[in-house]
Amino acid sequence: MLRENVESNFFQGLQGSAKVHYLRISVTDRCNERCVYCFPQDLGFLSKKENLLSFEEIYWTIFHGALRHGFKDFRITGGEPLVRKGTVSFIEQLTKISGVRSVRLSTNGTLLGLYARKLKEANIAGVNVSLDCLNPALYKKITGGDIAPVLEGIDECQKVGIESVKINTVLLRGINEEEFLPLIEWASEKKLVIRFIELMPISYTGKISKENFLSVAELKKRLEKQDDLEPLDYKLGQGPAKYFRMKKRNAIVGFIGAISDFHFCDNCNKMRLTSDGFIRPCLGNHLEIDIKPFLRPSVDPFKVYQAFELALQRKPPEHSFRENYNPGRVMTSIGG
Ligand code: GTP
Ligand code: 5AD
Ligand code: SF4
Repeated sequence: MLRENVESNFFQGLQGSAKVHYLRISVTDRCNERCVYCFPQDLGFLSKKENLLSFEEIYWTIFHGALRHGFKDFRITGGEPLVRKGTVSFIEQLTKISGVRSVRLSTNGTLLGLYARKLKEANIAGVNVSLDCLNPALYKKITGGDIAPVLEGIDECQKVGIESVKINTVLLRGINEEEFLPLIEWASEKKLVIRFIELMPISYTGKISKENFLSVAELKKRLEKQDDLEPLDYKLGQGPAKYFRMKKRNAIVGFIGAISDFHFCDNCNKMRLTSDGFIRPCLGNHLEIDIKPFLRPSVDPFKVYQAFELALQRKPPEHSFRENYNPGRVMTSIGG
């Protein structure tokens, strides 16, 4: 893995990039589910607990690195962020910082029943929930878990009035193809936005092949046979999804086509903070910058600023997923 040493790179005076304002923060590489496309069965891949950034260290990173470079939008990811004790209080703290425009959460939904109200009180701007099917047996097959708490958690988010609740469905040829239309209709009934995501080679279990990969283009063709797809001319959230309205069903459907869309990276606005303290400028590129050594009160916080500077300068123009990509480390520590 290519890891840049900040000490060996001199600050070059570049003032960051106004374009990059969205930081995804993985607060844990642990998860209470085992999705087939994500989680390694070999738990040896997980980092030691003591290597995880503390919430103080994450706060330090945001304060001295991200905000000073104009980052305004934050997403808490994992692993499953809600399995880490203190995540909701951390979110509450974040939303109070001046300069923070939005804090959102990506979750598998299993613990939302417990935390939705607290998240609302913490001023969360939105929650994205993974849901690859509605069929309980298939859900179990894909994730290893039970669907009931996830559905209840989604209902709870709507009940407590969380502003934006979106569904994430990974496209898995031969596995959840029959579920796409039922999911769209279910989401539309609940007035939820649903997004379909192309499988990416971001974990050791997420290898792409002809057998499991289904492109957004192919899905769109299938959906167009059923309904008119009208592009929306506005964005929903901060991510790369492109949104359409399915006219007859009055559903809003988003597509995240990282592999098949050759312009996917054109407007990339984000970087990532890994759960063990590396800034990762691109999900699909191994470049990482270690900031953990600088996250101590005894170290000049300017080092954190410089590390962000370097990450912004080195941000690759596009991902390398099409180049026989080897994930290098588990996606849960990078944060999706
Ligand atoms: P909003 O647009 O704000 O709702 O969020 P989002 O789509 O950025 O967040 P979410 O965590 O729900 O991500 C949805 C999917 O998009 C996940 O599979 C992510 O891995 C993928 N994704 C988000 N950003 C990028 C990116 O920059 N590159 C790639 N390749 N995938 C991304
Ligand atoms: N390919 C595409 N999306 C993935 N996710 C997890 N692993 C993969 C993968 N290999 C998605 C989850 C979750 C989001 C944060 O990332 O479905 O909704
Ligand atoms: Fe857990 Fe999300 Fe990975 Fe599934 S995709 S194993 S829910 S982190």
